[in-house]
Amino acid sequence: MSRELHTTGVERFFEKNDIIVSKTDPKGRITYANDVFLHIAGYTESECLGAPHSLIRHPDMPRCVFKLLWDTVQSGREIFAYVINRCKNGDHYWVYAHVTPSFDLSGGIRGYHSNRRVPDRAVLESFIIPLYKELCAEERSYQNRKQGLEASMAHMLGLLEKEGMGYDEFVMTLPRRLNEPQTAVPSVSPQPSVRTAA
Ligand SMILES: Cc1cc2nc3c(=O)[nH]c(=O)nc-3n(C[C@H](O)[C@H](O)[C@H](O)COP(=O)(O)O)c2cc1C
Repeated sequence: MSRELHTTGVERFFEKNDIIVSKTDPKGRITYANDVFLHIAGYTESECLGAPHSLIRHPDMPRCVFKLLWDTVQSGREIFAYVINRCKNGDHYWVYAHVTPSFDLSGGIRGYHSNRRVPDRAVLESFIIPLYKELCAEERSYQNRKQGLEASMAHMLGLLEKEGMGYDEFVMTLPRRLNEPQTAVPSVSPQPSVRTAA
Protein backbone atom coordinates (compact mmCIF):
# COMPACT_ATOMS: atom_id res chain seq x y z
CA MET A 1 0.00 0.00 0.00
CA SER A 2 1.43 3.40 -0.83
CA ARG A 3 0.33 6.63 0.77
CA GLU A 4 1.02 9.89 -0.99
CA LEU A 5 1.52 12.46 1.73
CA HIS A 6 1.40 16.12 0.83
CA THR A 7 4.55 17.99 1.83
CA THR A 8 5.44 21.67 1.38
CA GLY A 9 9.20 21.49 1.92
CA VAL A 10 8.86 24.24 4.53
CA GLU A 11 10.69 23.52 7.77
CA ARG A 12 9.37 24.58 11.18
CA PHE A 13 11.55 25.09 14.24
CA PHE A 14 11.01 25.06 17.98
CA GLU A 15 12.87 26.57 20.91
CA LYS A 16 16.00 24.97 22.34
CA ASN A 17 14.41 24.66 25.78
CA ASP A 18 11.12 23.25 24.49
CA ILE A 19 10.27 19.59 24.83
CA ILE A 20 7.73 18.08 22.47
CA VAL A 21 5.92 15.37 24.42
CA SER A 22 3.47 12.66 23.48
CA LYS A 23 2.33 9.42 25.04
CA THR A 24 0.69 6.44 23.39
CA ASP A 25 -1.14 3.29 24.36
CA PRO A 26 0.61 -0.04 23.62
CA LYS A 27 -0.66 0.09 20.01
CA GLY A 28 0.82 3.53 19.32
CA ARG A 29 -2.42 5.49 19.56
CA ILE A 30 -1.86 8.94 21.01
CA THR A 31 -3.13 9.35 24.58
CA TYR A 32 -1.40 12.64 25.40
CA ALA A 33 0.19 15.50 23.46
CA ASN A 34 1.56 18.64 25.09
CA ASP A 35 0.99 22.16 23.82
CA VAL A 36 4.39 22.29 22.11
CA PHE A 37 3.46 19.16 20.14
CA LEU A 38 0.07 20.55 19.13
CA HIS A 39 1.46 23.94 18.22
CA ILE A 40 4.27 22.75 15.96
CA ALA A 41 2.33 19.90 14.34
CA GLY A 42 -0.70 22.12 13.77
CA TYR A 43 -3.27 19.74 15.22
CA THR A 44 -5.84 20.24 17.95
CA GLU A 45 -5.80 17.95 20.95
CA SER A 46 -9.03 16.27 19.86
CA GLU A 47 -7.56 15.54 16.43
CA CYS A 48 -4.59 13.82 18.08
CA LEU A 49 -6.11 11.87 20.94
CA GLY A 50 -6.89 8.33 19.83
CA ALA A 51 -5.16 8.79 16.47
CA PRO A 52 -2.24 6.53 15.50
CA HIS A 53 1.11 8.27 15.95
CA SER A 54 1.68 7.85 12.21
CA LEU A 55 -0.63 10.89 11.98
CA ILE A 56 2.57 12.97 11.79
CA ARG A 57 4.62 10.51 9.74
CA HIS A 58 6.77 12.16 7.09
CA PRO A 59 7.55 10.29 3.85
CA ASP A 60 11.29 11.00 4.25
CA MET A 61 11.44 8.78 7.35
CA PRO A 62 12.82 5.33 6.55
CA ARG A 63 10.51 2.55 7.62
CA CYS A 64 13.43 0.60 9.05
CA VAL A 65 13.98 3.30 11.69
CA PHE A 66 10.41 2.88 12.90
CA LYS A 67 10.84 -0.88 12.91
CA LEU A 68 13.93 -0.46 15.07
CA LEU A 69 12.01 1.94 17.31
CA TRP A 70 9.10 -0.46 17.80
CA ASP A 71 11.28 -3.57 18.21
CA THR A 72 13.27 -1.74 20.88
CA VAL A 73 10.44 -0.25 22.94
CA GLN A 74 8.28 -3.38 22.69
CA SER A 75 11.17 -5.31 24.20
CA GLY A 76 11.12 -2.91 27.15
CA ARG A 77 14.12 -0.76 26.20
CA GLU A 78 14.50 2.93 25.43
CA ILE A 79 15.64 4.35 22.10
CA PHE A 80 17.02 7.65 20.85
CA ALA A 81 16.33 8.59 17.25
CA TYR A 82 16.34 11.51 14.84
CA VAL A 83 12.89 11.89 13.31
CA ILE A 84 11.40 14.17 10.67
CA ASN A 85 7.72 14.80 11.26
CA ARG A 86 4.99 16.17 9.03
CA CYS A 87 2.73 18.98 10.18
CA LYS A 88 -0.95 19.01 9.32
CA ASN A 89 -0.39 21.44 6.42
CA GLY A 90 2.57 19.44 5.03
CA ASP A 91 5.39 21.48 6.60
CA HIS A 92 7.99 19.48 8.52
CA TYR A 93 10.18 19.63 11.63
CA TRP A 94 13.15 17.58 12.82
CA VAL A 95 13.44 16.26 16.36
CA TYR A 96 15.80 14.23 18.49
CA ALA A 97 13.46 11.79 20.21
CA HIS A 98 13.84 9.70 23.34
CA VAL A 99 11.16 7.02 23.36
CA THR A 100 10.55 4.89 26.43
CA PRO A 101 8.11 2.19 27.47
CA SER A 102 5.93 2.84 30.55
CA PHE A 103 5.32 -0.16 32.78
CA ASP A 104 2.42 -1.12 35.02
CA LEU A 105 3.01 -2.52 38.49
CA SER A 106 3.23 -6.08 37.23
CA GLY A 107 5.93 -5.14 34.71
CA GLY A 108 3.68 -5.14 31.66
CA ILE A 109 3.96 -2.35 29.10
CA ARG A 110 1.02 0.01 29.48
CA GLY A 111 2.13 2.50 26.86
CA TYR A 112 4.99 4.55 25.47
CA HIS A 113 6.32 8.05 26.02
CA SER A 114 8.35 10.26 23.72
CA ASN A 115 10.27 13.42 24.65
CA ARG A 116 11.77 15.35 21.77
CA ARG A 117 14.33 18.10 21.76
CA VAL A 118 15.88 20.30 19.09
CA PRO A 119 18.31 18.12 17.13
CA ASP A 120 21.93 19.00 16.46
CA ARG A 121 21.73 20.66 13.04
CA ALA A 122 25.26 19.62 12.02
CA VAL A 123 24.50 15.98 12.86
CA LEU A 124 21.35 16.18 10.77
CA GLU A 125 23.08 17.69 7.77
CA SER A 126 26.22 15.57 7.93
CA PHE A 127 24.87 12.18 8.88
CA ILE A 128 21.14 11.75 9.30
CA ILE A 129 19.69 13.38 6.18
CA PRO A 130 22.09 11.57 3.80
CA LEU A 131 21.59 8.28 5.66
CA TYR A 132 17.79 8.53 5.65
CA LYS A 133 17.83 9.46 1.94
CA GLU A 134 19.76 6.31 1.16
CA LEU A 135 17.53 4.14 3.32
CA CYS A 136 14.33 5.58 1.82
CA ALA A 137 15.67 5.15 -1.71
CA GLU A 138 16.48 1.55 -0.87
CA GLU A 139 12.98 0.96 0.49
CA ARG A 140 11.31 2.59 -2.51
CA SER A 141 13.41 0.65 -5.00
CA TYR A 142 11.40 -2.47 -4.19
CA GLN A 143 7.86 -2.90 -5.42
CA ASN A 144 7.31 -5.25 -2.55
CA ARG A 145 7.14 -3.26 0.71
CA LYS A 146 8.25 -6.14 2.90
CA GLN A 147 11.32 -6.77 0.76
CA GLY A 148 12.13 -3.05 0.79
CA LEU A 149 11.96 -2.96 4.55
CA GLU A 150 14.09 -6.09 4.88
CA ALA A 151 16.69 -4.59 2.55
CA SER A 152 16.94 -1.25 4.33
CA MET A 153 17.01 -2.99 7.71
CA ALA A 154 19.80 -5.26 6.50
CA HIS A 155 21.78 -2.20 5.41
CA MET A 156 21.21 -0.43 8.68
CA LEU A 157 22.23 -3.50 10.67
CA GLY A 158 25.22 -3.99 8.35
CA LEU A 159 26.29 -0.43 9.02
CA LEU A 160 25.99 -0.95 12.78
CA GLU A 161 27.92 -4.20 12.55
CA LYS A 162 30.70 -2.45 10.64
CA GLU A 163 30.74 0.20 13.35
CA GLY A 164 30.68 -2.48 16.04
CA MET A 165 27.87 -0.85 17.98
CA GLY A 166 24.13 -0.82 18.57
CA TYR A 167 21.80 1.81 17.17
CA ASP A 168 21.69 3.93 20.33
CA GLU A 169 25.43 4.02 20.66
CA PHE A 170 25.74 4.89 16.97
CA VAL A 171 23.28 7.78 17.33
CA MET A 172 25.02 9.06 20.43
CA THR A 173 28.47 9.05 18.84
CA LEU A 174 27.36 11.24 15.94
CA PRO A 175 28.00 14.66 17.55
CA ARG A 176 31.51 13.54 18.51
CA ARG A 177 32.21 12.40 14.96
CA LEU A 178 31.63 15.89 13.60
CA ASN A 179 35.04 16.80 14.99
CA GLU A 180 36.75 13.88 13.31
CA PRO A 181 37.77 15.21 9.87
CA GLN A 182 37.71 11.90 8.00
CA THR A 183 34.44 10.67 9.42
CA ALA A 184 31.39 10.07 7.31
CA VAL A 185 28.53 7.69 7.79
CA PRO A 186 29.59 4.50 6.09
CA SER A 187 27.73 4.00 2.86
CA VAL A 188 24.55 2.02 3.00
CA SER A 189 24.44 1.81 -0.78
CA PRO A 190 22.29 -1.04 -1.96
CA GLN A 191 23.98 -4.34 -2.65
CA PRO A 192 23.15 -5.88 -6.02
CA SER A 193 19.87 -7.67 -5.54
CA VAL A 194 16.80 -8.82 -7.42
CA ARG A 195 13.79 -6.62 -6.84
CA THR A 196 10.56 -8.44 -7.45
CA ALA A 197 6.92 -7.66 -6.99
CA ALA A 198 4.96 -9.56 -4.34
C1 LIG B 1 5.81 6.95 21.91
C2 LIG B 1 5.88 6.92 20.41
C3 LIG B 1 6.15 8.07 19.73
C4 LIG B 1 6.21 8.10 18.33
N1 LIG B 1 6.48 9.27 17.72
C5 LIG B 1 6.44 9.31 16.37
C6 LIG B 1 6.65 10.55 15.71
O1 LIG B 1 6.91 11.59 16.31
N2 LIG B 1 6.57 10.55 14.34
C7 LIG B 1 6.30 9.42 13.63
O2 LIG B 1 6.21 9.49 12.41
N3 LIG B 1 6.13 8.23 14.25
C8 LIG B 1 6.20 8.15 15.60
N4 LIG B 1 6.03 6.96 16.23
C9 LIG B 1 5.96 5.73 15.39
C10 LIG B 1 4.57 5.48 14.83
O3 LIG B 1 3.85 4.72 15.77
C11 LIG B 1 4.65 4.69 13.50
O4 LIG B 1 5.33 3.49 13.71
C12 LIG B 1 5.35 5.47 12.39
O5 LIG B 1 4.78 6.73 12.22
C13 LIG B 1 5.31 4.73 11.06
O6 LIG B 1 3.99 4.53 10.71
P1 LIG B 1 3.56 3.54 9.53
O7 LIG B 1 4.15 2.21 9.89
O8 LIG B 1 2.08 3.53 9.56
O9 LIG B 1 4.15 4.10 8.29
C14 LIG B 1 5.99 6.90 17.61
C15 LIG B 1 5.70 5.72 18.30
C16 LIG B 1 5.67 5.73 19.69
C17 LIG B 1 5.39 4.45 20.43
